[in-house]
Amino acid sequence: MKEKKEPDEFYSKKLENEKEMFNRIYRILEIPFVYKLASILLAPGGYHLIKPLHRKAFGQSSGRVLDVGCGPTLNTPEPKGLIVGVDVNPAYIHQYTGGFVDEDPQLIFTPPISCRHLGFVASADKLPFADGSFDEARSNAIFHHLPDDVALKAIKEMCRCVRSGGRIVILDAVFPVKAWTRPIAWLTLRLDRGRYARSQEDMLELAQKSCPGSWDWERRTTTYTGQEFLCMQYIKE
Ligand SMILES: C[S@@+](CC[C@H](N)C(=O)[O-])C[C@H]1O[C@@H](n2cnc3c(N)ncnc32)[C@H](O)[C@@H]1O
Repeated sequence: MKEKKEPDEFYSKKLENEKEMFNRIYRILEIPFVYKLASILLAPGGYHLIKPLHRKAFGQSSGRVLDVGCGPTLNTPEPKGLIVGVDVNPAYIHQYTGGFVDEDPQLIFTPPISCRHLGFVASADKLPFADGSFDEARSNAIFHHLPDDVALKAIKEMCRCVRSGGRIVILDAVFPVKAWTRPIAWLTLRLDRGRYARSQEDMLELAQKSCPGSWDWERRTTTYTGQEFLCMQYIKE
């Protein structure tokens, strides 16, 4: 005979199963190749449409550049100089550097000749570098993975690691101003494995709270489904 479940127990079990199903899908997305394929399918046109925004934000980048939440490949323009990736996923760092996981933060000051990509496993809210080590700290599409407390610390850390006069540039997808005008963009972001997608206002507030000052920003459509990216930039005093 089938066991009869109380409604509360039934619904919490159902919720748990759904959560487990999403977690499994998200874990599959951790595989670099699957992640790349999913980006192409879920964000059609994203590869091309975001390019002008990237070129404008990073076209002149030079010196020592920190790429926070770098993922498996550098999707923003290569700076003239050295790029240093940081990610929590060692497999991504391995791929980002072409087969290495760096451990000594001092390496950023004396990188091996011909090496343009270094990579460290670390969380964005606890960067392993000394104050003012970089000319620029950038992040592309990571903040929707970070809850507010971690996101606040991550921006603070990016500011700390950049020298005076250096730049902090943060790009991320934001929710449409009105969900019903861009329903697919809204839904894709809502179902993204990054569970902390925000509105433009929330992103700007977060930036202001962590690093008070004059943040420039620009918002652009970056996929054929109408998804939008916000680019925020701050020059450290
Ligand atoms: C959507 S991907 C973006 C990757 C890359 N920046 C790009 O432009 O393709 C988000 C990345 O953030 C990383 N990530 C998530 N939480 C993080 C954290 N607390 N610290 C550092 N990286 C994190 C993930 O591992 C993933 O590589």
